[in-house]
Amino acid sequence: MGYKAQFRVWRGDDESGELRDYVIEVNEGEVVLDIIHRLQATQAPDLAVRWNCKAGKCGSCSAEINGKPKLLCMTRMSTFTEDEVITVTPMRTFPVIRDLVTDVSFNYTKAREVQSFSPPPDLKPGEYRMQQVDVERSQEFRKCIECFLCQNTCHVIRDHEENKEAFSGPRFLMRVAELEMHPLDTADRRDAAQDEHGLGYCNITKCCTEVCPEHIKITDNALIPMKERVAGRRYDPVVWLGNKLFRR
Ligand code: SF4
Ligand code: F3S
Ligand code: FES
Repeated sequence: MGYKAQFRVWRGDDESGELRDYVIEVNEGEVVLDIIHRLQATQAPDLAVRWNCKAGKCGSCSAEINGKPKLLCMTRMSTFTEDEVITVTPMRTFPVIRDLVTDVSFNYTKAREVQSFSPPPDLKPGEYRMQQVDVERSQEFRKCIECFLCQNTCHVIRDHEENKEAFSGPRFLMRVAELEMHPLDTADRRDAAQDEHGLGYCNITKCCTEVCPEHIKITDNALIPMKERVAGRRYDPVVWLGNKLFRR
C-alpha cells in the first residue's frame, strides 16, 4: 500500500544551498532513487542527481541518506518508518556541482597516480600463469564499483581537506595493495604506498569497510596487509640492512 513520505533534500551548488522539504508518494518495493525520480517528475524538475544502472553496479548514485553514505538505488524505502523524515544530501567530502551531484574528480586524479600493472617485460600474452589462491585474493578487490563511498567516509579526508594532497584514500590504497599482492607485478610498491599515497595516515578505523556496498574487506584484506609489508621493509633490521647494502 502506498503512503506519503516526508523528504528533505539538499538543493544548491558549491556556493550556497538549503534543505528543502517535500511530501511525496511512496509505493511498495520502491528505493530512495525511485522517490528522487518521482520528485523530478512531479515537483522538482530541475533536481540534479547522478545515476545509471539502478542495480547497484555503476557506482553513480552515491549520496548520504540521514547522514549515512549510501547508494540511492540500493536503499529500500521499507528500511524507514512511514512517519520518518528522510534527509538526502550530497557526499560531503567532494565539492557539490548541483543538488545531489558532486565533483568526484579527486578520485580520478588519485587513480592516475597509481603505477599501472607492470608484468615482466619478456612475458608474452598467453604466458601469464597464476595460482588460484592469488586470483581469488585480487578477485575480491575487483568487485569495486568505484562508488567512492569509502573515499567519502574516511575521516582522513572527510574532516581534513588539507590531507587530500597527500592521501589517496582507501579505494586507491586498496588498488596499490592489489597490485603489490599480484604475483606477476614486478614493481615494488611499498615505498610509494607510504610516501606517495599516504598509507601512514590510515589509522585502521574501518569506516571505509563498513560503507562498502560490495562488502569488500578493504581494511582487513588490503590496508592492513599493505601496512605489514611496508613495516616489514622499513622496520625489520635485517631487511633494513639489506636495503642499505643492496639499495633495491
Ligand atoms: Fe565503493 Fe567499496 Fe569500491 Fe570503495 S571499495 S569505491 S566503497 S565499491
Ligand atoms: Fe580511513 Fe579506512 Fe583507514 S576509513 S583511516 S582508510 S581503515
Ligand atoms: Fe548504479 Fe545506483 S544507479 S549504483
